[in-house]
Amino acid sequence: MEQEYVDLEDLPGVGATTAEKLREAGFTSIEAIAVASPSELSAAADIGEGTAAKIIVAARKKANIGGFETGDLIFERRKQVGKITTGSDALNELLGGGIETQAITEFYGEFGSGKTQICHQLAINVQLSGKEGGLDGSVVIIDTENTFRPERIKQICENRGLDPETVLKNIYVARAYNSNHQILLVDNAMELADKLKNQDMPVRLIIVDSLTAHFRAEYVGRGTLADRQQKLNKHLHDLMRFADLHNAAVVVTNQVQAKPDTFFGDPTKPIGGHILGHTATFRLYLRKGKGSLRIARLVDSPYLPEGEAVFAVTERGVEDK
Ligand code: GTP
Ligand code: MG
Repeated sequence: MEQEYVDLEDLPGVGATTAEKLREAGFTSIEAIAVASPSELSAAADIGEGTAAKIIVAARKKANIGGFETGDLIFERRKQVGKITTGSDALNELLGGGIETQAITEFYGEFGSGKTQICHQLAINVQLSGKEGGLDGSVVIIDTENTFRPERIKQICENRGLDPETVLKNIYVARAYNSNHQILLVDNAMELADKLKNQDMPVRLIIVDSLTAHFRAEYVGRGTLADRQQKLNKHLHDLMRFADLHNAAVVVTNQVQAKPDTFFGDPTKPIGGHILGHTATFRLYLRKGKGSLRIARLVDSPYLPEGEAVFAVTERGVEDK
């Protein structure tokens, strides 16, 4: 799966100006160009469709857009799948044991439904030993809303007999200032994970909280919907690649609003639409219950039964009710 690094400028017909325009429009990799249509590319970079078509052909030759792999290799990789405990047995059971590696798990729900709390808990739990429900790994958090709280990590650790200092040292947090920055941070995470690969605590979890907030804020109105989807799609593709290369779990959050949202249609549907729906391997819809209780519902899982789990968010973090 190793890939030689190619710049957009390495493609015939792509100079600095065109490359810049392409990047701005979200075509940040050769792969993204390889799967684009000539009309999309032409509109994005102010070039003729003929030129665009030639660039796409060249990109396809250079890109790693995937090929065939034999079943035994896929089987070997699947055997390595690890699971991270959520802190709640009920929620673990709903997920078939916990949060899986080599997969994307999406938590969506309205504000205060517990998405960020679950992220904090998982950032701790991934560090536990296998026996304790962890993966002896560290975690990367891409924090887009500035909601990561080390104090909360400390509190949960203290209530669970874990050493906060050590735990905090294995949590790598980066703020993402906009959607482009957010996308680029996955590359940085990849570099970090490569570096930590053979160390004591390799990266086994990457969290993007929130996956969609920047996209939602930046792409307003119907006309930009396709662009937004395309970028989100690329982002998720990068995350999935991270999951595969590092046998890591990917956890993303997505807000839904209780109040009608004129720009994005059905208010109870997560933003990201069907692209996210097909990429996220596990989707959990969270809603508030009484007090500290939260209800998670597993939505369109291909191989787990639909169902609900009730858990609690307390001073100990996520736990059974
Ligand atoms: P948005 O990001 O706004 O969409 O919400 P979210 O789904 O990320 O919500 P979040 O995970 O931040 O949940 C907030 C809720 O968790 C609060 O309303 C509290 O009920 C609970 N909570 C947050 N911090 C603490 C804490 O330190 N102690 C306890 N006991 N509960 C907390
Ligand atoms: Mg949150």
